[in-house]
Amino acid sequence: MNVVKTVDEVRNQVAQWKQQGLRVGLVPTMGYLHEGHQSLMKCAKKENDKVVVSIFVNPMQFGPSEDLADYPRDLEHDMEKCEEVGVDLIFHPEPSEMYEDDFCSFVDMSGLTEGLCGKTRPVHFRGVCTVVNKLFHIVTPDNAYFGQKDGQQLAVIRRMVRDLNMNVNVVGCPIIREEDGLAKSSRNTYLSKEERKAALVLSKAIQLGSELSKTEKNAKKVVAQMKELIQKEPLAKIDYVEAVDAFSMEPVETLDGECMLAMAVYIGNTRLIDNVLV
Ligand code: PAF
Repeated sequence: MNVVKTVDEVRNQVAQWKQQGLRVGLVPTMGYLHEGHQSLMKCAKKENDKVVVSIFVNPMQFGPSEDLADYPRDLEHDMEKCEEVGVDLIFHPEPSEMYEDDFCSFVDMSGLTEGLCGKTRPVHFRGVCTVVNKLFHIVTPDNAYFGQKDGQQLAVIRRMVRDLNMNVNVVGCPIIREEDGLAKSSRNTYLSKEERKAALVLSKAIQLGSELSKTEKNAKKVVAQMKELIQKEPLAKIDYVEAVDAFSMEPVETLDGECMLAMAVYIGNTRLIDNVLV
């Protein structure tokens, strides 16, 4: 497995593979890899001849008061996780390799990016779309893999690819959970022992919403019960709990068609997200 830092090195390697007629899968990540990321890599391994993992904590998708400086980083650990799955190439650029000092071109999406996480993280999806667009241009993958845990991000990326006629197949992969139900996330490492216990309220509320939605189609009622459960946990503070259309991310009144029950909840200072498609 090769670890490279420059765009040219990635391009040279991918060009060689493409000359040989090989299919290339990309797993974009911000590192601190866990089983959730590995499930994306495994999926990419099955469907492609070569797998590239990008590890880049993208400054552009963090707001000024967010956790960019504290975001966990450990390249050695990440290399091991990639080796375990048989990744072929890691792209680990410095911010200066991705963004020149006078960088001024962005991918800005309206609509889908305005609700849910977009409400409290107004610059987030512009940063995500811009960096993912760049990664697609650099790696030119046949397939790119994203987790359903970031359900809004997945919908946004699918829309960007459709709207801008990008020649890449976006594959969404299921949420991977700890044994007790907590969705795997690099940010789980921020949680104290007590907070880790309290964080279970997210997956419990997701489970409740999923069960209720089998018989109750009134979105408001389902969301109200989910909120009630979360509010019983003293360490939890709700950012949002919403029922939205799975494609447009617009709020829905009735749970028919493909909908997503989505939430962001602070446990102490750590903001965690979870969702379920119903
Ligand atoms: O989901 C993430 O880890 C990031 O948002 C992504 C897609 C790698 C872009 O920086």
